[in-house]
Amino acid sequence: MDHRPTSENTPAVAPRPTTGPTWPAGLDALAYGGDYNPEQWPEEVWPEDVRLMREAGVTMVSVGIFSWSLLETERGQYEFGWLDRLLDLLHEAGIRVDLGTPTVVPPAWFYREHPEALPVSREGVRYEFGGRGAICHSSPAYRAAAAAITEQLALRYAGHPALALWHVHNEYGVPVSACYCEESAGHFRRWLANRYTTVKELNEAWGTAFWGQHYNRWDDVRPPRLTPTACNPAQQLDWARFTSDAMLENFRSERDILHRLAPGIPVTTNFMTALSQCESVDYWAWGREVDIVSNDHYLVAEAERNHVNLAMSADITRSVAGGKPWLLLEHSTGAVNWQPRNIAKRPGELARNSLAHVARGSEGAMFFQWRASRYGTEKFHSAMLPHAGTDSRIWREVVALGSDLTSLGAVRGSRVVADAAILWDWQSWWAQKLEWRPSVELDARERADAWYAAGYDRHLTLDFAHPEAADLSAYPLVLVPALYLMTEAASQNLRRYVEGGGTLVVSYFSGIVDEHDTVHAGPHPGALRDVLGLTVEEFGPLRAGETVRLTGDGPELTGDGWSEWVVPRGADTLWSYADGPAAGHPAVTRHALGSGSAWYVSSRLDAAGLDTVLARAAAEAGLPERGLPRDVEVVERAGELGRYLFAINHTGTDARIPLPGDGVELLTGTAVSAFLDVPGNSTRVVHL
Ligand code: GAL
Ligand code: ZN
Repeated sequence: MDHRPTSENTPAVAPRPTTGPTWPAGLDALAYGGDYNPEQWPEEVWPEDVRLMREAGVTMVSVGIFSWSLLETERGQYEFGWLDRLLDLLHEAGIRVDLGTPTVVPPAWFYREHPEALPVSREGVRYEFGGRGAICHSSPAYRAAAAAITEQLALRYAGHPALALWHVHNEYGVPVSACYCEESAGHFRRWLANRYTTVKELNEAWGTAFWGQHYNRWDDVRPPRLTPTACNPAQQLDWARFTSDAMLENFRSERDILHRLAPGIPVTTNFMTALSQCESVDYWAWGREVDIVSNDHYLVAEAERNHVNLAMSADITRSVAGGKPWLLLEHSTGAVNWQPRNIAKRPGELARNSLAHVARGSEGAMFFQWRASRYGTEKFHSAMLPHAGTDSRIWREVVALGSDLTSLGAVRGSRVVADAAILWDWQSWWAQKLEWRPSVELDARERADAWYAAGYDRHLTLDFAHPEAADLSAYPLVLVPALYLMTEAASQNLRRYVEGGGTLVVSYFSGIVDEHDTVHAGPHPGALRDVLGLTVEEFGPLRAGETVRLTGDGPELTGDGWSEWVVPRGADTLWSYADGPAAGHPAVTRHALGSGSAWYVSSRLDAAGLDTVLARAAAEAGLPERGLPRDVEVVERAGELGRYLFAINHTGTDARIPLPGDGVELLTGTAVSAFLDVPGNSTRVVHL
């Protein structure tokens, strides 16, 4: 029997109903400013805020993100007076407003009425009010209340002259994304029924013949709650998809209200694309739903070379935006209080961080937050206006950055010029992260980071691309660091790319399973063995600390964590295992296919090894050897007014880099030709 659940909120992946404009209304400069939470201050402070904003060159601020309890003090009782006065004040000063819908923190009165809207953890524990983001995204009561406050805001402010952009919610996906309550279980079943139509199909997709998990009725299907041992992987993978989609339904509901009641004002929601910062949102899907992609990035301050992770997040964000203008909506001027050690930024780091985002396509740089809070959980977080006040290094750097961004106004609308693409898929990551993979060393994020860093160190600007949906034909080189899950469509996309003349470089444990986490029939890697011209007879995971030597055509390489019994079936062997479980087998191969080639790297190479392989593949793909100094980041944007070359020196040593032509350095206003000098810790931008 097939009891199909029905509901009005079955999440058909519908085309977007309406589209807003793609630039903040009335903003005719790069965006510069931050989250502004004046409700934490007496109103007498506001004029000083605005005066200092002008001094710093602030062009836009985000307001109201956490203000639900102040705007709707009890159900249906609205108090908009303070926000009216604030928006008027900002408007008089010429500062544009990115207005939040405050739906990330429902008020205490809401939970008094609807305690069931508090989310439940996988262990069955209900979270409490007192932090933020305690939301069951399947709760009809939450949805209705969020829609109501959004409607009121739209009705009141649609015509306000300060309004430039809508900022829906805040960082969907953190701090909690999934809720395991009964309401969510029903919602999950409706989502599944939409995906699979019949319970029979669900059984096949989930492989329920294994461990006797067969379902007869939809009602028996549950969220992947705590199970005595590893829970069905296909069930968990669908749950992850559902979780992202359930939040997306809520975003869409608010967005559609805003589009309907405030036409002309674009809608965004701040993403957290850094793989270290949010895991639960499929940003490929979300990027299509917003009018402007915006992102928050928090420097992993203690990490060595943290600017590489920053660049990666910026590149992911631009890619999710389809290369179109996007906005850095939050980062920090200094300390990030939720990190174990709140490392202060070094002199110049604030500007380098901001301008690295601009170099990679952001149309400005915004911060959390404008004025440091005196109370609450984030009082030790840095701000544009720190506790130390205006007689402080941070303030001086904030003012200087405002002036730099004014000098860079012309870059608006130009697009980043990428050299190569790297494939990434959140769904594959979700699948690979599940239990009982062949080795705990198989970490998709680790490989994505490592390969991205290898590209960064060769000064290649990388676009991220979706394995199925992206047209790869324009990229001379495509890297695949971690695509455990690969659909038939993705496999065909890669084959077309290589046959058409592309150079594809694939890392181990890619192309193993399909969209249901079912191993592709036949030898590994099922989705790629024809393209790569090889099969993998057996995996050869290494012991902790064990390394293997790879010898062959070039310097000896070192791998750890992983090796494989690669059997060439058309591919040529470039390096072989000199020792370890797969001794004698090929380790790095190259397959000539059509007019292109597909390379395979079957072990976890260290940075030097990756560089060796990447250098060869890049040369074959016709990419130039840049020969630029390490950690001097050079990125180009191109637009109607010309080319802009950003050079960001993350080292303390002055650097000199060659220029492809003459131009004007925009931050110092000096003419340059042939060479550009970039002082240590500084940024230069040449309009060529
Ligand atoms: C962001 C969040 C802000 C603030 C900030 C602190 O993730 O959107 O509201 O909490 O972190 O780093
Ligand atoms: Zn729930």
